[in-house]
Amino acid sequence: MSKQEVIICENLEDNLTYALQKQSYDKLFILTDTHTHQLCLPQLQTLDILNKAEEIMIGASDVYKTLETLASVWQALSEQGATRYSLLINLGGGMVTDLGGFAASTFKRGITYINIPTTLLAMVDASVGGKTGINFNGLKNEIGVFAPAASVLLETSFLRSLDAHNFFSGYAEMLKHGLISTPEHWAELLAFDTEEMNYSILKTMVGRSVQVKENIVRQDPLEHGIRKALNLGHTIGHAFESLALAESRPILHGYAVAWGIICELYLSHIKVGFPQDKMRQTIQFIRQNYGTFIFNCDQYESLYELMKHDKKNTSGIINFTLLKNIGDISLNQTADKETIFETFDFYRECMGM
Ligand code: GLY
Repeated sequence: MSKQEVIICENLEDNLTYALQKQSYDKLFILTDTHTHQLCLPQLQTLDILNKAEEIMIGASDVYKTLETLASVWQALSEQGATRYSLLINLGGGMVTDLGGFAASTFKRGITYINIPTTLLAMVDASVGGKTGINFNGLKNEIGVFAPAASVLLETSFLRSLDAHNFFSGYAEMLKHGLISTPEHWAELLAFDTEEMNYSILKTMVGRSVQVKENIVRQDPLEHGIRKALNLGHTIGHAFESLALAESRPILHGYAVAWGIICELYLSHIKVGFPQDKMRQTIQFIRQNYGTFIFNCDQYESLYELMKHDKKNTSGIINFTLLKNIGDISLNQTADKETIFETFDFYRECMGM
């Protein structure tokens, strides 16, 4: 997988001009959703280079991350004369960058694309690292390919208009990057004042966070080994997310990850000795900012079943990424059913349920 260039923008127009000048292409397309069409595209329309770009707009939110939407993007590219030398710019959150990346990497066997993520979750996670795809058959990201963007442009001023829920959803992935990297990065994330936000500090932390992901993806782009570190919090987090969806009370991905981190730090503590004080400090931050995902012991079996069907497992064995300490990663860990249920007990007890 070729390396993608991640640029922390000082001036989005200049940075996009630079990224486009490095490519040769015959026609430009820009994929937006109904939100970014209205809120973000106007920031780019003064750019001469985009004058002739064709816009393709799709619905906003994960419910549109489907084969039908994907087909509509292929159709638009085809009808508007895209060739294999055309270039697609994806302007949006993780849904747009995942679906647009997949559309680009399959259209005429693959055209170049550039991501301009507009949410925190997409900036620090979805738009970086080459994972593209759509949901299928009720399963998240079931169909897709690894295909990196040529460039990813991070314009953190988009974050100023992000609502608190979407901010914290992305921040959970940053917290994960802190836990799997260094005590310093973890500590600065816990200390960040999320009520009186300093956007300059946030921008610096976003840069560091993306670097953590880039370093890991560079070593293992196809997730055979160390890239599994990025799954911390996700084994149980995905089960929370799926249960919530099945019970028609959907939760944002990052919230599920934050609550999954609580459980997986507890597993890390009892199985590989993650320090109790650091576990408690992280849990305290999550409790304060994310509230609680409510479930009772009658739902343990359903959560366990969901975990057994996670696509990260091999031969039906539930796979966890655990930590011996901050930045000290234990891949390919497993836990028996009794220990997983004990983890749910711990979660409910420390969340005051
Ligand atoms: N979101 C985790 C990864 O990109 O591997």
